[in-house]
Amino acid sequence: MSTGSPRVLPAETGIAEAAAVLRDGGLVAFPTETVYGLGANALDARAAARIFEAKARPSFDPLITHLADAADLEKLVGPVPPAVAALAERFWPGPLTLIVDRPAEIPPIVTSGLDTMAVRVPDEPWARALIRTAGVPVAAPSANRFGQLSPTRAEHVVRGLGGAVDVVLDGGPTRCGIESTIVDARGAQPVVLRLGALALEDLVEAVGPVTVRPGSSGQPVAPGTLAAHYAPRTPLRVVAGARPAVGDGVRRGFLAFRESPADGYVAVEVLSPAGDVTEAAARLFDALHRLDAAGVTEILAEAAPEEGVGRAINDRLRRAAATWDAAG
Ligand code: TXA
Ligand code: MG
Repeated sequence: MSTGSPRVLPAETGIAEAAAVLRDGGLVAFPTETVYGLGANALDARAAARIFEAKARPSFDPLITHLADAADLEKLVGPVPPAVAALAERFWPGPLTLIVDRPAEIPPIVTSGLDTMAVRVPDEPWARALIRTAGVPVAAPSANRFGQLSPTRAEHVVRGLGGAVDVVLDGGPTRCGIESTIVDARGAQPVVLRLGALALEDLVEAVGPVTVRPGSSGQPVAPGTLAAHYAPRTPLRVVAGARPAVGDGVRRGFLAFRESPADGYVAVEVLSPAGDVTEAAARLFDALHRLDAAGVTEILAEAAPEEGVGRAINDRLRRAAATWDAAG
């Protein structure tokens, strides 16, 4: 556990200082449209190593490199396959991460030794200003300790990582609330490595059929897709349909998609009273952070409709639950 606290700078006024910290090899947590990232200069192997240390992240789990502009992609990696270029053109800036060949300038630690690199341009003006001002590509995983809940607010980062981060750029709550969709479009048919904030339906509309790789077994191609991940500290179970009876004395929290459950829960979070999956995704991790802090011994979570970003919500809930199944 790290002690101390990071400097928290308002995004409105903190860009220049945060960019200088990045250039000097420091760690800067910053808002993207998905979740907060823990950024380091992607050209600097020692800076990247500090990310793994701060997160207690296994060295086999590669980082995503963030760029300020889509035009920076070919400057960094050279020509990319047409399908990759088409997706970048269509969805960047935005919550889509693409797989490309790792350029020689990017040290292997960033990609955990893979000869491929994950890359995206976030749709968040402060993130882009930070990267542009730093003048370097920025490697950034989600700014949480490995396996734990992703941060959607600056205070989540401060609580989770403390003084392991030099600066937190506070840009308020993130808009999407769930990580980017990761797609490998280098082959004949695009492969979705991680469901995320770019809805599968929108991807399919743009590129036609895709393969969705759950990645829950075998090689951790995208270790964010490890079966057990994104977990609160409190055991979580996904419930379908009926809400289990309460009154057995167990202090339970309930994560509802649309409607509050019957009485008896110590803490309840409703993700979207309007039943909107996009709104629900934006509130998911914040709600889980609150339930985790509510002093309950178990969290029951209702699945979202399996459509649009609802798929990514259910993916995260299943992985959070798997952590506790795995723990027995
Ligand atoms: O929305 C997001 O993607 C956020 C924000 C900060 O951009 N970042 C994020 O990073 O979620 P992280 O590290 O929590 O998840 C990155 C995922 C991991 O599952 C990693 O294994 C996968 O991307 N990944 C990175 N490089 C890869 C590669 N070369 N091939 C396949 N998967 C890769
Ligand atoms: Mg993560």
